[in-house]
Amino acid sequence: MILLDGKQTSAQIKEEIASAVSEMQNNNIKVPHLAAVLVGTNGASMTYVGAKVKACELVGFESTLIELPEETSEDELLTQIKALNDDLNIDGFIVQLPLPKHIDDQKVLMAIHPDKDVDGFHPMNVGRLTLDLPTFISATPYGIMELLERYEIPTSGKHVVVIGRSHIVGRPMSILMSQKRPAGNATVTVAHSRTANLAALTKTADIVVAALGIPEFLTADMIKEDAAVIDVGITRVSDDSKKRGYRIAGDVHFESVSKKASYITPVPGGVGPMTIAMLLKNTLLARQRAEAD
Ligand code: GUN
Repeated sequence: MILLDGKQTSAQIKEEIASAVSEMQNNNIKVPHLAAVLVGTNGASMTYVGAKVKACELVGFESTLIELPEETSEDELLTQIKALNDDLNIDGFIVQLPLPKHIDDQKVLMAIHPDKDVDGFHPMNVGRLTLDLPTFISATPYGIMELLERYEIPTSGKHVVVIGRSHIVGRPMSILMSQKRPAGNATVTVAHSRTANLAALTKTADIVVAALGIPEFLTADMIKEDAAVIDVGITRVSDDSKKRGYRIAGDVHFESVSKKASYITPVPGGVGPMTIAMLLKNTLLARQRAEAD
């Protein structure tokens, strides 16, 4: 069994980005600038956004964190987004999800200019992804594609079962792996909460991507010998033995599945760290596209 080390791979990608940034500096080219908008005080969101800003510093990007109170109205947030769209100094920005209930996520995501949408959530970018056109691939699927590619896991002609059909992970993952591209050319099945006899299906898979958000859902009896297993789950499960009162659980029962799989991503340290590296990569891409215009 080979552990797909997202921590090490993401560190390598960040080094590659940092060297591209120092080349920009040497050539007096403006370095990438990422902005993140955080509305409210959701604990996980604050952690993620903090990690994104810190990663910007590490690679030499500029970053701006915009923290807005929970009571911010949808109109106020849309005004902030317009300001970021118009700010030539900002190459890309994200609005951290989930948003407070009184704000319509979709309306907000559609207000982000597609050229600055480094999360790749805008319908224009999702559409471009499905058509295989230049786009921003959202960070989690992009990170998984990068892990598969860098570890040279065969995908062409293989059967992939993606469990989960979310807009952020399952759906784009299924599209990417079916396309003609590195880590693509696979035959993909999308499974979800209404799928009948899921275990019979996952047992036929060469690669299983578990992205349903149920801790330790995928067990060894559900996979075939030597399958590659990608665990996208990051659920906080209460655990009194931890100082912070919880642990992070994946969607895969690691202890049993790791004994049967050929490759597996650990949680934490697998897909999670890759997402931040890919957000940086998208921001670098946004800057390079702006520079070329
Ligand atoms: N919330 C959880 N994951 C993400 C992400 O990748 N981007 C944004 N904006 N919010 C998230």
